[in-house]
Amino acid sequence: MRYALISDVHANRPALEAVLRDIATRGAVDATYHLGDLVGYAPWPNEVVEMLVTRGIPGVAGNYDSTVATDYKHCGCQYEDPRQEELSHLSYAWTREHVSARTKALLGSLPFRIDLRPNGGHVAGPTVILVHGNQTLNTVYVHRERSDTFLEKMGAALGARPGDVVCFGHTHVPWHRVVDGVHYVNTGSVGRPKDGDWRASYVLLDVIGGNVTAEIVRVDYDVEAAARAIIASELPDDFADHLREGGAERRPTAPALRPADGF
Ligand SMILES: [Fe+2]
Repeated sequence: MRYALISDVHANRPALEAVLRDIATRGAVDATYHLGDLVGYAPWPNEVVEMLVTRGIPGVAGNYDSTVATDYKHCGCQYEDPRQEELSHLSYAWTREHVSARTKALLGSLPFRIDLRPNGGHVAGPTVILVHGNQTLNTVYVHRERSDTFLEKMGAALGARPGDVVCFGHTHVPWHRVVDGVHYVNTGSVGRPKDGDWRASYVLLDVIGGNVTAEIVRVDYDVEAAARAIIASELPDDFADHLREGGAERRPTAPALRPADGF
């Protein structure tokens, strides 16, 4: 089985279109799943959700999806200075104002987690586990600097065994690491990368028997079309600059385990 895993589209229609086109050109992709955060920061929340529904692409609830769906007080996003906090609130308010009742209902219907059994459930074999953040909350950032101990605890809490694959997004930075035989795969972000590379990111995951490979794919898209649409909207122009620059990875260098992370 070959899966395409797309996460953190964040209402960026040109980026999603480019990624879906790229997946189509690969030919051998058996199924595509999204890992949440369909809305926020760009002006096409309804169009992005509709595109995934139309194409029959299932997925899990990101923090943006579940907070918008439940009218939560904020998006559960991380910010490190007052300006970031202000931008975060502006994006959330704009998105809540512009999502249709149908979009909101669809976001609210997304499951927290999806388990896939590429070899079928009738035989032992790898399980591919899809979440947005970690096993407990879709707001927890599983950065690539997380320790092996952190990942081991996450894998154990999800019931992952050696050979299994744990896939997630949320940090907008792609990476892949194997700890104690369990694969941890962060898909990066389709519509709002934060690793300094403006191109859309997604993952092609191949599971052949017990053999697992993950390829991180980057896709050019019409970033200026997205930037222009942001500037033409009432969303902050900062979000256009972020897309053009591919963001910047800003976070603590060595995140510690905290009770809030579900441990
Ligand atoms: Fe996100």
